[in-house]
Amino acid sequence: MFPKLLTTLLPLLLLLLLLTLTPLALSAPTPPTPPKPRWFETYSHVARRAIVPQSYYEVLHIRRQQQHPLTNPRSIVKDVVCLDRKAHIVAHDEAAASLQICNGSIAGTGKSQYCQGGLKQTEARVGTAVFRLKSVNERQSINVSRERWQQCVWAAREACPTGALKAVCLGGARWGGGVGFELRNA
Ligand SMILES: *[C@@H]1O[C@H](CO)[C@@H](O)[C@H](O)[C@H]1NC(C)=O
Ligand SMILES: *[C@@H]1O[C@H](CO)[C@@H](O)[C@H](O)[C@H]1NC(C)=O
Repeated sequence: MFPKLLTTLLPLLLLLLLLTLTPLALSAPTPPTPPKPRWFETYSHVARRAIVPQSYYEVLHIRRQQQHPLTNPRSIVKDVVCLDRKAHIVAHDEAAASLQICNGSIAGTGKSQYCQGGLKQTEARVGTAVFRLKSVNERQSINVSRERWQQCVWAAREACPTGALKAVCLGGARWGGGVGFELRNA
């Protein structure tokens, strides 16, 4: 009786084993594909690679972990230029100054805070950081939401993790115009 039971059970057991192993084989890790160049690496070509210090990559790495990655930075900023990489700008000052643009009208608790007052240019200075903004087109005043503005600063910072920088914040002015901005050491 025993061998008979075995012969009927054995194929069943084998089938069961096969079924449990198949998904494992299918989900085996695929070999890693080489990372695609990130959007700002074209800018690094402009600023000679040889002079980029190691700390550049370290700060970049920290920032990547801290901030949720922007899905498409190219649609947020353009013409990013890393200025003096050694300019000492304290991160907290930078964050505080970024909320002081447009006389502080983008700061506050409201969800839809945005730069008001029909300004063509604005400046904000806190401690070691100063932001200067100017609408690209003189007829289009600055009209940037806080969220958009912060995305612009983040995107530019992703390309230039340290020091001073300048860029154009797309859609930061009325009728979709751009706003040129600079962040420097105050
Ligand atoms: C912002 O402040 C400056 C300087 O105090 C002033 O000239 C300007 O009118 C203010 N703008 C707004 C929108 O309040
Ligand atoms: C100005 O910005 C606000 C808030 O983002 C937006 O709703 C409005 O359409 C903008 N106005 C113009 C003329 O672009």
